[in-house]
Amino acid sequence: MKNIDSNSHLRGESIYLDDVPLVAGTLFAVAFGSPHAHGKITNLDLSQAEQMPGLVRIFTYKDVPGENQIGGIVPDEPLLAEHHVHFQGMPVVLVVAESVEEAKMALKKIKIDIEPLPIITDPRVAREKGELIVPPRTFKIGDVDTAWSQCAHIVEGIAETNGQEHLYIETQGAYTFPLENGSIRIISSTQGPTAVQRHAAICLGIPMHKLEVDVTRLGGGFGGKEDQASMWAILCALATYHLKKPVKYSLDRMEDMRMTGKRNPYSSDFKIGLDKDLKIIAYEATFHQNAGAAADLSPAVLERTLFHSTNSYFVPNVRATAYSCRTNLPPNTAFRGFGGPQGMFVIEAAIHKAAEIIGVPAWEIQSKNLIKTGDEFPFGQKAESEANQCWQTAKEIFQPEQIEKDIEKFNSENVLFKKGMSFMPICFGISFTKTPMNQARALVHVYTDGSIGVSTGAVEMGQSVNTKMLQVAAQIFSVDPDRIKIHSTNTFRIANTSPSAASATADLNGKAVEIACHAILARLKTITSEKFSVSINDISIVNEEVLIKGKPMNYNWLQLIQDGYLKRIALSEHGHYAPPGLHYDAKIEKGHPFAYHVYGTALTEVTVDCLRGTYVVDSVKIVHDFGTSMNFAVDRGQIEGGLVQGIGWMTLEEIVYDENGRLRSNALSTYKVPDIYSVPKNIDLHLLKTDKDNMAILKSKAVGEPPLMYGIGTYFALRNAVKAFNPDAEMAYSTPMTPEKVLMGLIGKLETNDAITK
Ligand code: MOS
Repeated sequence: MKNIDSNSHLRGESIYLDDVPLVAGTLFAVAFGSPHAHGKITNLDLSQAEQMPGLVRIFTYKDVPGENQIGGIVPDEPLLAEHHVHFQGMPVVLVVAESVEEAKMALKKIKIDIEPLPIITDPRVAREKGELIVPPRTFKIGDVDTAWSQCAHIVEGIAETNGQEHLYIETQGAYTFPLENGSIRIISSTQGPTAVQRHAAICLGIPMHKLEVDVTRLGGGFGGKEDQASMWAILCALATYHLKKPVKYSLDRMEDMRMTGKRNPYSSDFKIGLDKDLKIIAYEATFHQNAGAAADLSPAVLERTLFHSTNSYFVPNVRATAYSCRTNLPPNTAFRGFGGPQGMFVIEAAIHKAAEIIGVPAWEIQSKNLIKTGDEFPFGQKAESEANQCWQTAKEIFQPEQIEKDIEKFNSENVLFKKGMSFMPICFGISFTKTPMNQARALVHVYTDGSIGVSTGAVEMGQSVNTKMLQVAAQIFSVDPDRIKIHSTNTFRIANTSPSAASATADLNGKAVEIACHAILARLKTITSEKFSVSINDISIVNEEVLIKGKPMNYNWLQLIQDGYLKRIALSEHGHYAPPGLHYDAKIEKGHPFAYHVYGTALTEVTVDCLRGTYVVDSVKIVHDFGTSMNFAVDRGQIEGGLVQGIGWMTLEEIVYDENGRLRSNALSTYKVPDIYSVPKNIDLHLLKTDKDNMAILKSKAVGEPPLMYGIGTYFALRNAVKAFNPDAEMAYSTPMTPEKVLMGLIGKLETNDAITK
């Protein structure tokens, strides 16, 4: 089935926040962000700004009627700064004017004096100074300390991954409207409507039932709007609360880049031990997460790093410790993979470094250590593994031995171009690791004209979850998809939603839709059985026709619904779903946190221009575990998009803060994301169909985050190509592998002339 949004997207008719028609009297907000990364506010002078034309009012923390607090996991993040600032761009005051231009003009007249305090940007420095967001956590299995004695090879090192700008095409924003009796309607570009509602209620000091949050769709989220959409929505709501007027704030690109957090950078230590047969016996990792100035979602991201510290491998002895370090950068946050990719990069670096030192291809170590069904993860869950099946299928289809031979031949015949390849197996856990968040609701209405309206807690953000929700309802009722409309996500219709995140949105909300549809269907079958005096088990609905024992009765969907109305049965249902079997005990760090894992293998080939340091990704060949894909066009889009986003993180996208905590890569001229020229020339995608009752919707498997981690393979393929040119290249395991870093690796330790004449 096609993506239900494709027509309106193509015509530019889809409604994003900025497309909502302006209501007369709308005011415009803009936040004044701290010009310093850390300090004490000694003076704030708003007098000149208040005289500016069009200015309506300037709000400070003193205007927050409830609690000046938006921290979700740890209450450490004020809505507006009080006496201290903790990062450049931290909102200090909110300026509201009759136009965006006037608001921005007034903003320039604000005078602030800040007494500087020491600025920390490096997570290791933060750890030394004891600046931790939460106490460190350690996952353990076996006994690492005694296991080293059984190892023939022990390799240690450091691995670092940089952050990543979400770069959703639609920037952050919100539009709020006063309703009667102090209620407020909030249109927000958020992945978490309930998060916006809950925190707005706290800040405004009013009950959640007065706050209607409505989301039609987002122009991308990628985790950046899981928690960080709340700030802007609550600022608008604050202004609406006081002024009783509609207020809009749509951030411009540079504001968004400067004021919002990104993927958490990590700096990690690893130690890996293998026996003489290349079995990994022991693995130790220490992760330093750069959380930024407030907790935001970082403690949860940290946890997912630990859950993915051994990626797709079984290691009998593991000790992994993770520190969430407070620095003076904007609070870092969720980003597709949510800490998993950061953890997986470290063990991949350890394996590749061990392979280089031992003198074997990394894939030999990878393939010998893939996790099998029944093997235990360090957190106690037993794997139901498709890792070997993915790997073996990849070997059969892609013929890596032949690729290796071809690469060797190419490299021996070419002086200035070298090719490299790598394997990247993935294993990604599906479920929110905070078990209570694994619940969802759906509201299904069948109208008397036979049309169907479906609301869920799922937020459409380009991932086509609405298409999947529609497919579920269409399949269960067996009606024409055109009969069904997926409505906006709205906190008055669906309460207490989990954010659309953790790749679990279609699973959780799809199951809720399924439950609601089945309940209505059961009532429809009951009246049919009475009408025809037949058993319920003999009734089916196929393509809008009611069949009895498979035979048409000249009785269709519309007649059935109209009879249902006349018989006064409920043609609406509220479905609730909570996946069974999930539990986790953080005291002992053991449990069963994931409904299932998604597996896959990618084989990446690259070519490096050894004179320039530039490169192309020739191909990425993937075997991916889809379960039974519900919609292959949609799922392919997720695989390709995730892969390219992962390649961007590993290669081009370089976030640079200076020592004052100022973002230097603050625009698209200085921050490069993959474009059509940098995507792989060839993406070869093979479905691995696995048939298990996996607690996923219609036996499909979640597909949102896992493919991002295939991009990690590009980093190692590039290293291998550089090594083919300069076997002595000494390159830190540090991402992104920009062309500059490739060039340093190519010429490092060699005289430039030698490199060229070689
Ligand atoms: Mo996603 S990174 O779980 O919003």
